[in-house]
Amino acid sequence: MILRFLLIFGFLPTIILAQNCVSCVGSGNIWCVETSQCNSTFVSCQTPISIQLNCPTQPDPRYPYDDHFMRTQQIVLASASHGEIVQTCFDNQIPSMKLYQVRTVNCSSNYTDVTCRGFTAYDITQKAIVLSFRGSHGPDQSQQLADGMANGGLQSYFGNTGTIFKVVYDSFMLLWNGGMYQDLKNLKYKYPDFEVWVNGHSLGGMLSWVASSYLAISGLYKPENIRVVAMAAPRIGDYNFAVWYTSTFPNSYHIIHRNDQIPRSVKIDPHTNTTVLFHPRTQVWYNNYMRVNDEYQICAEADGNYCSDAVTEGLSFEDHIYYFNINMPQWGRDGCPKNISAYAQP
Ligand SMILES: *[C@@H]1O[C@H](CO)[C@@H](O)[C@H](O)[C@H]1NC(C)=O
Ligand SMILES: *[C@@H]1O[C@H](CO)[C@@H](O)[C@H](O)[C@H]1NC(C)=O
Ligand SMILES: *[C@@H]1O[C@H](CO)[C@@H](O)[C@H](O)[C@H]1NC(C)=O
Ligand SMILES: *[C@@H]1O[C@H](CO)[C@@H](O)[C@H](O)[C@H]1NC(C)=O
Ligand SMILES: *[C@@H]1O[C@H](CO)[C@@H](O)[C@H](O)[C@H]1NC(C)=O
Repeated sequence: MILRFLLIFGFLPTIILAQNCVSCVGSGNIWCVETSQCNSTFVSCQTPISIQLNCPTQPDPRYPYDDHFMRTQQIVLASASHGEIVQTCFDNQIPSMKLYQVRTVNCSSNYTDVTCRGFTAYDITQKAIVLSFRGSHGPDQSQQLADGMANGGLQSYFGNTGTIFKVVYDSFMLLWNGGMYQDLKNLKYKYPDFEVWVNGHSLGGMLSWVASSYLAISGLYKPENIRVVAMAAPRIGDYNFAVWYTSTFPNSYHIIHRNDQIPRSVKIDPHTNTTVLFHPRTQVWYNNYMRVNDEYQICAEADGNYCSDAVTEGLSFEDHIYYFNINMPQWGRDGCPKNISAYAQP
């Protein structure tokens, strides 16, 4: 019996027949997605997988990606924080949404014009409480974040496994203690059965990952009642963070526009130049203008040379500003007018 087994499989001595990708990479080998083969090396494989985080997985079917929800609701929430007339954005685009509080804090000791901002809102029709975080608002804040990443590096967060950038953690805590935590508690007291939407663009996307981590770890909300939508966010943490986040939040999407350079950035912790950083799941990549009916790719892998990261040339900052074919900061500042054609990408 054993001899016959050896004879049959004697033709393929170097191919280990693994049960699946997870056990394959768990035993230190590489999984090839196209051929479902497990080998120590591959001479040719289009999609090789070497870490468990990247074993092909579809999003939880209870929480499918919803393009219409993103382009009608989430883009409004993520743009509104750029302006001073947040409620006007809602009145124009999501009339059932009510602003609760905007919080702005000084989040730099080095610059005179660097602030972090977020708001809380609620929607009785959709039974949702919103926590939304603004992206960085100028070159000083971008520089302050880069400095902070290089000087402060990674640290643990809320006593959990893995590490995230200290500068992002600090920015979150300043906002949280600067009023957002109390605002959320007030809203939760009033609407205890609502789900919570946590979102933001760029820095705001990183803050949405920290905020949702806080909500889950503190026990304020069950992860299945937290809907996370990050857009255009740079990597924030190490492998263990990405694994924990991915396994904790079943309803979390990270939207990336075409050649946007920002979410492709910071692959290695600049403080040590050793720790490799990873995005949590699930990336959704629009390799186009993100117009209505444009196609998109829901990435089966988390983070490696897949989906948007298969493109490394021709990266663009303009693709960072335009999501769903809208100039987000400008549209938000103008109160999210109904006619969006003036905000389209050239
Ligand atoms: C598997 O790895 C061996 C070397 O370890 C190599 O000779 C062989 O071609 C590989 N098989 C495939 C399908 O890539
Ligand atoms: C933030 O605080 C620093 C000192 O800690 C100060 O120099 C800076 O002007 C402040 N920025 C704002 C926007 O208030
Ligand atoms: C402020 O700037 C100095 C000089 O660029 C830098 O050494 C320091 O780490 C910065 N502080 C923060 C909090 O980024
Ligand atoms: C990391 O690499 C960059 C670019 O090579 C270099 O400027 C920086 O000093 C390095 N930092 C450390 C901590 O080694
Ligand atoms: C929308 O705006 C564009 C350009 O700003 C303008 O040409 C167009 O007439 C407007 N459409 C409507 C329906 O008002």
